[in-house]
Amino acid sequence: MSSATITIDRDFTIGAVPRRLFGSFVEHMGRCVYTGIYEPGHATADDDGFRTDVLRLVGELGATVIRYPGGNFVSGYNWEDGIGPAESRPRRLDGAWHSLESNAFGLHEFAAWSKKAGTEVMEAINLGTRGVDAARALVEYANHPGGTYLSDLRKKNGAADPFDIKLWCLGNEMDGPWQIGHKTADEYGRLAQEAGKAMRMVDPSIELVVCGSSGSGMPTFGAWEQTVLGHAYNEVDYVSLHAYYQEHDGDAASFLASAVDMDYFIEAVVATADAVRARGKHRKSINLSFDEWNVWYQRGLDSDDQPDKIAASGVWREHPRVIEDSYNVTDAVVVGTLLNSLLRHGDRVKIANQAQLVNVIAPILTEEGGAAWRQSIFWPFARMAQLARGQIVRAAIRSDRYESAKFGDTDLVDVSATWDEETGRLALFLANRGLDEAASVDVVLRGLVAGRVTRAEVLVAPDGGDRFSRNTVATGEQVGLRPLNTVSAADDRVTLTLPALSWAVVELEVDAN
Ligand code: AHR
Repeated sequence: MSSATITIDRDFTIGAVPRRLFGSFVEHMGRCVYTGIYEPGHATADDDGFRTDVLRLVGELGATVIRYPGGNFVSGYNWEDGIGPAESRPRRLDGAWHSLESNAFGLHEFAAWSKKAGTEVMEAINLGTRGVDAARALVEYANHPGGTYLSDLRKKNGAADPFDIKLWCLGNEMDGPWQIGHKTADEYGRLAQEAGKAMRMVDPSIELVVCGSSGSGMPTFGAWEQTVLGHAYNEVDYVSLHAYYQEHDGDAASFLASAVDMDYFIEAVVATADAVRARGKHRKSINLSFDEWNVWYQRGLDSDDQPDKIAASGVWREHPRVIEDSYNVTDAVVVGTLLNSLLRHGDRVKIANQAQLVNVIAPILTEEGGAAWRQSIFWPFARMAQLARGQIVRAAIRSDRYESAKFGDTDLVDVSATWDEETGRLALFLANRGLDEAASVDVVLRGLVAGRVTRAEVLVAPDGGDRFSRNTVATGEQVGLRPLNTVSAADDRVTLTLPALSWAVVELEVDAN
C-alpha cells in the first residue's frame, strides 16, 4: 500500500470557489444540440422540444455556465440564421464538422433552454468569417432593452426582455490552422481589441474572453498570448486555455499524470499575462477561462464518428455522430485530477468549461428516441460542482510517488479541498493514481476539529470489472459512486484508504478552533 499525508490549515486559503469553474459547453456539433438537448418528438420533450430527461441530468451534473454555440462551428456561423420564424431559417453547410445545419435551434432556443437548466449563457462570437459589426450587432440584439432596430427585432421574435448575456468569447481557437478564418496573433489581437471595444460600447457591463492557445503544445504557445494581450489587454477580462488528454499506446501512467500538464499550462499562462501587465503598466490582472477541457481520444480511434472520416465521406448529413467517446474508469480518475488542478488554481482560473455537455465527448449520452444516461466522468464533476463551496484551502501533500514516461516523478495521491465557514463543511476531492496499489491517506487539520462525516463516496472499477469498464446501453450505469467505508474522523485527523485507481470525495463537519 502507498501512503500520503495531507495538511490543511484553515488560514491557508487560495480564494473563494469560483462557481463558474463548473461550466460546460454546447456546440452545434454532432448530436450535442440535435437529439442531445433538443429533440422535438422525443417522449420526454417539453413544449419547446427540449429533452427533459437530459435537463434532469444536467441539473444533477450541476453545470453553472454553458459556452455556446462553438467551438470551431462558431467561426463560420451567422447568428442571424438562428433567429426568427423557424420555417424561414436557412439550411447551411457547416464546414467545421462537415454537417448540414438546419438552424432549427438558435439563440432564443438556447436562452430558453438555459433558463430551464438554471445555467448562465457564455456566448461566443464569430471572429473567423465575420468581425466587429456582427459582434456589436449581436450584443445589441441580445442585451439592449428596446427602442432600436435590433432590440425590437428580438422582441418581435418573442423575447420581450433582453437575454442579458454577461460573458462573451471573442472567437474560438484563432491560433489553430484548422480554424475557419485562422489568423496570426497580430491580426487576431487587433480584431479582438476592436470587436471588444465596439461590444462594450453597446453594453459596458459585459465580460470578455480573448482566445489564448488551443493547447500548450501549439508552436505559437506563449508568444501568442503575449502578442494578443499586448493588443487587447485593456479591452478583455480573461484569456482562454484549451486542453484535451488521452491515453496513448497503453501508457496509463502518463495519462493519469495529465493534471501535471494542466498545472504547467495554467501557471505558464498566468506568468505570461502578468508579464504583459508589468510591461504595459496595467493595473488590472487578466484572469483565466479554461473554456475547453476534457479527456478526448483524438488519436488512435478507428471509429466512424471521427471528423476526418466524416469529411472524407463527402456526404453532408444533419447531426451525424461525431466523437461520441465512451468513457471508462481511468478517464473518470483523470477528469477528477483535472478538476483538482482547476480548483487549486481558482485564484486565477475563474471560468472552466468541460467540453462538451451531451454526446460529443460528454458526461451525458443519449440515443435518438431513446434513453439518456451518465458516463463515468459525470461523477467527479457532479460531486465537485455540488460540494466545492466557500474557500479553496491549500492541501499540502506529501505522497509516495511513481514514475511516468511523460511527466517523470508524480504524486500517487492527488487532492484539492474546500472549506465553507458558513455551513461548517470541509470537502476533500481525492484521486489514487496507483494502478495496482491502494493508498493510505492521513489528513492533518490545523485550526479545524473534525466532526461527523457527511459523505464518503468512491468511484472505482465495478466488482470483477477492470479499469476499462464503462457505461453503455448494454451494461447500464455500472461505473458510478459507491460508499467509501474506510473513513474515520476525530480531533485533528481524518484517515482513509483509497482503493487502487480510484476517485473519491469526503465531506465532513468541522469546527474552527
Ligand atoms: O470540443 C470540440 C472541438 O475542440 C471544438 O469545436 C474546438 O474548439 C476544439 O478544437
